[in-house]
Amino acid sequence: MISNCVALHRHVFLACLVALTLTGCGSSGSDQSGTSDANVVEVFSWWTSGSEAAALQVVFDAYRAQYPDVSIINASIAGGGGSAARPVLQTRLVGNNPPDTWQTHPGAEVLGQYVAPNFAAPLDDLYAEEGWYEVFPQRLMDMVSRDGSPYLVVLNLHRSNTLWYNKPLVESHGITINKRLSHDELFVIFDRLKAGGIAPLCMGDAGIWAAGITFENTLVGTIGPERYLGLWDGTTSFSDRDVREAMTTFGRLVDYFNADHAALSWDQAVDKLIEGSCAFYSMGDWVYGEFVQAGLVDNVDFGWIAHPGSEDAYLLVSDGFTLARDAPHVAPTRNMLRVMGQRVVQEDFNLQKGSICARTDCDRERFGPYLKWAMDTYRDATLVPTVVHGSASPQDFRQALNDALTTFVVHRDVDGFARTLKREARMSGFGR
Ligand code: GAL
Repeated sequence: MISNCVALHRHVFLACLVALTLTGCGSSGSDQSGTSDANVVEVFSWWTSGSEAAALQVVFDAYRAQYPDVSIINASIAGGGGSAARPVLQTRLVGNNPPDTWQTHPGAEVLGQYVAPNFAAPLDDLYAEEGWYEVFPQRLMDMVSRDGSPYLVVLNLHRSNTLWYNKPLVESHGITINKRLSHDELFVIFDRLKAGGIAPLCMGDAGIWAAGITFENTLVGTIGPERYLGLWDGTTSFSDRDVREAMTTFGRLVDYFNADHAALSWDQAVDKLIEGSCAFYSMGDWVYGEFVQAGLVDNVDFGWIAHPGSEDAYLLVSDGFTLARDAPHVAPTRNMLRVMGQRVVQEDFNLQKGSICARTDCDRERFGPYLKWAMDTYRDATLVPTVVHGSASPQDFRQALNDALTTFVVHRDVDGFARTLKREARMSGFGR
């Protein structure tokens, strides 16, 4: 396996080594032997957890079936939310050594970090050839296009504001979960669980971004989707009373995290929920992908509701892939993107990933109760962007939020947190 890695370009080699133990990069993920350089496509992502790797494999299997002569370099770098992958990618892009295609999020991230500096190529012709203008929703197209040209093929739509729970565990404490809960009702439940020796709220924020998701969910749930949208156009300020109330509530939630939260990755915290050492998790539905991997059954082994107060919002986290402007292997990469956009591939991929199709024409009946619920809320709720996953704001604000959160989970200084975010929003050009 190592020799497969050694045959690669030096940057790919590093990524491969990291991925080796986690995804089998070099064996199932890549297969360089006996292929010419032109018959290669390098796919860069951070999909290394059990469900992420399984979902990526679905795409690779479909590609291999359609393009058997091309080998795939799986350049995935572990670290949820791309926390470790994105800096490596940036170094490669700036050093004019791009992977053929890389994972990124719609909105500010793809347009600000990759399209504006000219790292990504427009995909108009691919969209036209594949008839994609008809099957991808306009609101998504708006988030991946500049001057009318799309730059991303989007695989999925994750819902970030879901509150998961271990159903048998919660019920064994005599607790029934209603369809909606307020934060106050949740705190009553948490106290009961805590008294029973269970960590009420799961967290794996070794990469602080995971705590950021719970914060974002609390924010939307407290101020509502319209005022949350206002944060990104300056009509809502980070020092407003309701925003500070959200910060206070988030601080209270932190008190219920499992004690080892800072040492765990997001998916290790899912394992804790499954084994029953913590009960709830306010996290995107990549968690559902891990439940699927573990063979759990919807509404039996686990339940879910919207994060308190956020019933009318759909906090969107979505994944797509680019074509590098200077892609070393253009034709095989265009074909990789073609495969990612296929309806059946999107269905198969999303069943593993825990998300719903980006395409509008997938077969709803292939999906189970949770994903049907996610589809319904996507249809009915107000769509709001994530800052934690780069869609809502420029990268410098996302970094500032991560830094401020790291301090806040330790000190719980609401005034300082609000002041910092207000200042950073102004400096990033959208706050007031
Ligand atoms: C997000 C990504 C999801 C999920 C999550 C955890 O950035 O959009 O697909 O994998 O990170 O790694």
